[in-house]
Amino acid sequence: MNITVKTPEEQELMRVAGRLTADVLDMIEDHIQPGVTTDQLDAICHDFIVNKQQAIPAPLNYRGFPKSICTSVNQVVCHGIPADKLLRSGDIINVDITVIKDGFHGDSSRMFPVGKTTPPNQRLMEVAFQGMWQGIQQLRPGAHLGDVGHAIQQFVEAQHCSIVREYCGHGIGRQFHEDPQVLHYGRPGTGVELTEGMCLTVEPMVNAGRRHVRLKQDGWTVVTRDGRPSAQWEHTVLITGTGHEVLTLGAAARE
Ligand code: MF3
Ligand code: CO
Ligand code: CO
Repeated sequence: MNITVKTPEEQELMRVAGRLTADVLDMIEDHIQPGVTTDQLDAICHDFIVNKQQAIPAPLNYRGFPKSICTSVNQVVCHGIPADKLLRSGDIINVDITVIKDGFHGDSSRMFPVGKTTPPNQRLMEVAFQGMWQGIQQLRPGAHLGDVGHAIQQFVEAQHCSIVREYCGHGIGRQFHEDPQVLHYGRPGTGVELTEGMCLTVEPMVNAGRRHVRLKQDGWTVVTRDGRPSAQWEHTVLITGTGHEVLTLGAAARE
């Protein structure tokens, strides 16, 4: 395991990358409407990242991924590939943005309803959101990654939803995916102990039905086996001397 600890200068570069990532999500929100295609969302984000932010969309060509963002609709758990498929009112979509600026990565995703969605879908998105925050709240020097996973699992399972096991959060910095793996389930007091200067993502995938997933033939798209919907939120977080700093808060939360 090779966990990178960021210097104060590197932490500042992580802050910049995180802010740009959040800015993309803030920007795309108003474009998520019935009748838009996920390809169109990809094109808008690509243009914004490359031309406005003068940054790099990390997914493009990452291990052969063909697009600049991930768009995961309804029963798609993660890594959905933008395509010419129209969004319909009532769909739920995760948009996952990763930006590279001055060599450092920011990684964040949010859920959006398309038009108005159903109460069960709204509740699923809310459980995933609160589950992510239960995990983030554990992050401080001396805490263990098992504390993070346990907090998320406890919360989500108490809401009668399930946690996907096959995909996890990760360290992040000069590399998109660094050590350690951040599991979204676990036992308190186990796993890596956190120290100041580490940067991690917390990104639980929460299913309305059973936790099992299947990889589609395209080699990327992960779907629920039972066909029921899935939701995910993600933040990039820095471990500080006393706790943590969320690097990918949207402008509304940054004040
Ligand atoms: N952004 C995803 C994550 O949170 C990873 C996407 S990999 C890609 O880790 F190639 F699909 F972009
Ligand atoms: Co991530
Ligand atoms: Co991501």
